[in-house]
Amino acid sequence: MKNYDKLIFELSVEGRTGFSLPDNRWEHRLPEIPEVLCRRSESGLPQVSEPDVVRHYTNLSSMNFGVDTGFYPLGSCTMKYNPKINEETASLPGFTSVHPLQPEETMQGTLQVCHELEKALCAVTGMAAFTLCPFAGAHGELTGLMIMRQYHMSRNDMKRTKVIVPDSAHGTNPASAAVCGLRVVQVRSTPDGTIDVEDLKPLLDDTVAGIMMTNPNTLGLFETEISRIADLVHGCGGLLYYDGANMNPLLGKVRPGDMGFDIMHLNLHKTFSTPHGGGGPGSGPVGVSAALWDYLPYPKVTADGDGKYHLMSGSHTAGRVSGFMGNFSVMVKALTYIMMLGNKNIRMAGPLAALNANYVKESLKDCYRLPIDRVCKHEFVFDGLADTSSGITALEIAKRLLDYGFHAPTIYFPLLFHQAIMIEPTETESKDTLDAFIEAMRNIAREAVSEPDILHDAPHGTPVRRSDETLAATRPVLRYRQVE
Ligand SMILES: Cc1ncc(COP(=O)(O)O)c(C=O)c1O
Repeated sequence: MKNYDKLIFELSVEGRTGFSLPDNRWEHRLPEIPEVLCRRSESGLPQVSEPDVVRHYTNLSSMNFGVDTGFYPLGSCTMKYNPKINEETASLPGFTSVHPLQPEETMQGTLQVCHELEKALCAVTGMAAFTLCPFAGAHGELTGLMIMRQYHMSRNDMKRTKVIVPDSAHGTNPASAAVCGLRVVQVRSTPDGTIDVEDLKPLLDDTVAGIMMTNPNTLGLFETEISRIADLVHGCGGLLYYDGANMNPLLGKVRPGDMGFDIMHLNLHKTFSTPHGGGGPGSGPVGVSAALWDYLPYPKVTADGDGKYHLMSGSHTAGRVSGFMGNFSVMVKALTYIMMLGNKNIRMAGPLAALNANYVKESLKDCYRLPIDRVCKHEFVFDGLADTSSGITALEIAKRLLDYGFHAPTIYFPLLFHQAIMIEPTETESKDTLDAFIEAMRNIAREAVSEPDILHDAPHGTPVRRSDETLAATRPVLRYRQVE
């Protein structure tokens, strides 16, 4: 095991440097720097040698956990492996040196990538067009709701401000609706975990802007009543928004457009294998049905009959939602992934993700409480241990998993169960990895009865043990030295 205590932050030694520049290089350039921008005092940067810097950051990176170091069963997050070829294509000089203010005719290749990606996303989802501008799933939700609102307003249907959201929804759904100035109303789930259509019916009136759903939902269950729900919501003049964060198990099998959805987002950083979370940046393209094309944000890439690409805007555009085109390098990576899999293999991703999730679920359901025992899609939710006599919590189980070398699953979400443990293996893990994870989870269930203290104090072998997660989120320390 590594000695993490040796990782000290203050390495600076007066006079030590890690660079060598030609003496006269900056003197020659100095007159060009405006006076107001010239530094008047020392920068206060650490004075360190190159090996000091390289070792410091390499050691720091080895304290971290990521999809490149281990299995990451983080439910609702689709932490699939990020193929390295994605990085290679995204680093091609033609892509890295392009400037967003270049004239259109000098960046035809860049626009072609956007256009090809849009076509592929349309094929996979059954939507008519996509904007690639949004930077994340939640940003996609906000953009989609802006399109929804703009659609109703352009028809002078001003009182449509109600957005229906299921009680199993991801927190970003009601938050995005509220940020968009819409009113959130909750619809209940049935005991089998899907939307209660009888609870939905009385909510449907002429104030409904739309419903936000994800299918499979956050319990990993397919909403089998989706066609009926689509008819009911359309019947009262509302639109259907699809939260595509859970699109992974449907890849190549089921298309939101065919289920009746009018607007949707995808998380390229989940379903299309681009880095996620701290490894981002993300991208949340928004797709619409043909009737809503005109409302997509600006700028939108289109192709003319001569094979030339242009940036344009629809007449009812919801406006700009990002600087320039969004996260272009993420688009290159997602297109690489789609082209690498091809039409045939992309159809395997969804079924394999569902197979892996069901394999893990079935292998553990005698040790962990499975509140809804159905065939799942890409993920499933346990509600703590089957044997609750030890009082061991979801948090303690998650922390102990770190000692076994696995990232923790999502815990305490969805809010429907007190000790929710949400597991999503994805299609990129081998049976060996899944078996090792299953064994660790079974060991933990045994330890809960035989030596519960080991769980109370877990983790034991990580560089940082239990951090104050609230403080870390609300007052993160992002500098190595206190600034007065
Ligand atoms: C179901 C669901 N919807 C929306 C989001 C938001 O996506 P992002 O984190 O890219 O903003 C997530 C993220 O985990 C999610 O799981």
